[in-house]
Amino acid sequence: MAQKRENIHKYLFGHPFRTDSVVADIPVSAGEAPYLLRSQDETGEVFRYALSEEDRVYGLGEQVRGIDKRGWVYASWNMDDPEIHENRQSLYASHNFLVVDGKEKFGVFVDSPGKVVYDIDYTTRGEMAIFCGRDFGLYIIEGESVLDVIRTFRKMIGRSYIPPKFAFGFAQSRWGYMNETDVREVADEYGKCGFPVDMIVLDIDYMENYKDFTINGERFPDFPAFVREMKARGIRLIPIIDAAVKAEDGYSVYEEGCKGGYFCKDKDGKPFIVGVWPGDSALPDFLSPEARAWFGEKYRVLLDCGIEGFWNDMNEPSLFYSKDSLARTIRGIAEKEGKNLSLTEFWSITGSVARLANNADDYASFYHETEGGKVSHKEVHNLYGYNMVRAASEYFGKYDKDKRTLIYSRSSHIGMHRYGGIWTGDNASRWDHLLLNLKMLPSLNMCGFLYVGADIGGFGQDTTEDLLLRWTALGAFVPLMRNHCTFGSRRQEYYRFGNRQAFKNLLDMRYSLVPYLYSEFVKSALRDELMYTPLGFLYPDDERAKETEDQMFVGGSIMIAPVYRQNTRGRNVYLPEDMKMVRMRSVSDYTEEILPKGDHYVEMGFGEVVFFVAKGKAIPLAKPAKNVAALDEEHLLWIKYADGKTTYELYDDDGFTTDVREENIRTVTV
Ligand code: GLC
Repeated sequence: MAQKRENIHKYLFGHPFRTDSVVADIPVSAGEAPYLLRSQDETGEVFRYALSEEDRVYGLGEQVRGIDKRGWVYASWNMDDPEIHENRQSLYASHNFLVVDGKEKFGVFVDSPGKVVYDIDYTTRGEMAIFCGRDFGLYIIEGESVLDVIRTFRKMIGRSYIPPKFAFGFAQSRWGYMNETDVREVADEYGKCGFPVDMIVLDIDYMENYKDFTINGERFPDFPAFVREMKARGIRLIPIIDAAVKAEDGYSVYEEGCKGGYFCKDKDGKPFIVGVWPGDSALPDFLSPEARAWFGEKYRVLLDCGIEGFWNDMNEPSLFYSKDSLARTIRGIAEKEGKNLSLTEFWSITGSVARLANNADDYASFYHETEGGKVSHKEVHNLYGYNMVRAASEYFGKYDKDKRTLIYSRSSHIGMHRYGGIWTGDNASRWDHLLLNLKMLPSLNMCGFLYVGADIGGFGQDTTEDLLLRWTALGAFVPLMRNHCTFGSRRQEYYRFGNRQAFKNLLDMRYSLVPYLYSEFVKSALRDELMYTPLGFLYPDDERAKETEDQMFVGGSIMIAPVYRQNTRGRNVYLPEDMKMVRMRSVSDYTEEILPKGDHYVEMGFGEVVFFVAKGKAIPLAKPAKNVAALDEEHLLWIKYADGKTTYELYDDDGFTTDVREENIRTVTV
């Protein structure tokens, strides 16, 4: 039965598509939404709110710019474009939740699968305008504090995905590991250097011609044996699965998809053909429950080989071109052959080629068969990646209902947070991307995504040793800790750099932190709380804390302040209260110092992890080990900032089964 909730107001406009983003049964409210002024324009419904000087606006998950979102236009429109910079309007995901923090405190969730635009203090200073389209649900969530509003929202959307514990270990990845020899070499080098590692990630080259659910038999002659060999060394292989299926006669996945009608169709009912890595490909219709069940079951071939984790990619869906638009463009260019072109005509050629990728007209040219009937992709674009992960996750539950399987995706939408994690796509080896990684963490948590991470060292371009060191020092505190980079860029496995001791310290420290990170992660999931909390959410009366966007609480006990500028030996740190600074090179080599509230310049060396423990808090640490399974969690070491005894709520479990519950928490006095 629907429960009346005083603090959640729900409104429906037009004919909303069922996104399954919200799981709570919330009745529709009467009248108009509070706080917002409603109007209409040619795009549909618009809601405005007058922002006063002191108001801050938080949220929107995977987005550019700061934690406070004022001063820019953001669009929810999942987009595969690796040029990530502050003037972009959308990245790979769309997360339609924000919180206004001022005299009034309230959250807004636009439950829409299509484009939503947030003009926050950009066009008109002092005004936030949300362009919602025509068919959507609108939720206004009230609360005493920002954290209160977020908790209510998170309860509404259901418990966040909890991966197996090995997923808190380190993952080495690179686009370009071509065969067993390449993968073995990575494992060998990690072993030789004594660097811990839990996962080696397989990018598209493990497949046969980029065909999903195939294994290239020349490169991996006995894949199940190779999976076993790696597992015996404590390493799990994590293969990629891309969204599009190669359109090739004789390829069983394509043929089954055609026969079952499981692909997205063009206006004539034929599979819509796009170009991605395998060339001509068809897009599985993840919005159809039958297609989801069919595609999900395909994972079996890899699960049967002993695979326990996957990543899903190209699921915005990414289109390098559609078959039709490519043919049209080539014809257009051919017509100009031999002519003396004006500059405008010349630019029309380059423009027509540039417009091929992720073209809006293509997204409007294919259709889904949903429970509610046929729908144009453009109306439901942002749900595609979400439902790709859902297909996999629903099948994992059938394959082994008691087991947690690792899965993370590039594209996402609120709702997918229940089925898997995300990495934030094709960043680059840039210092500002390290900072963006940090700032995104709380915004993602607000929208339900807890198992998150960015490519450490940067995906595109060439990394530098110091960038990699600083990024790894942040990555040590992030659930998905993956070093990944693109084909052709400078190699960035840790063993390729001179300062191995510094990298070893950072990796070992990560493993020492696993008991704390896992505990804080699962408690955040069980209690619908943030794992990363900006200072301003915790010290709402402290203006300095609110302006500090480059420091973060990780769990309830510690604050981090990563270095994100090149050629600096440390940084300024603002302490919102007295804290204990811990400077660690290893669990047996660290110093502690109590620092008073206020500003401090703190030196931070390359091979050390510096963090700050809040008063009355403690953290558990383990001795480092070669992988998560080898950690000795019976004999934990504790660091605390307390005069006498204090307590810590420690969550732990077997790390594999779905038996994750509050009862696994025990209060430890230290
Ligand atoms: C996409 C992914 C990237 C991957 C590449 C090849 O660009 O975002 O992580 O390495 O495809 O599969």
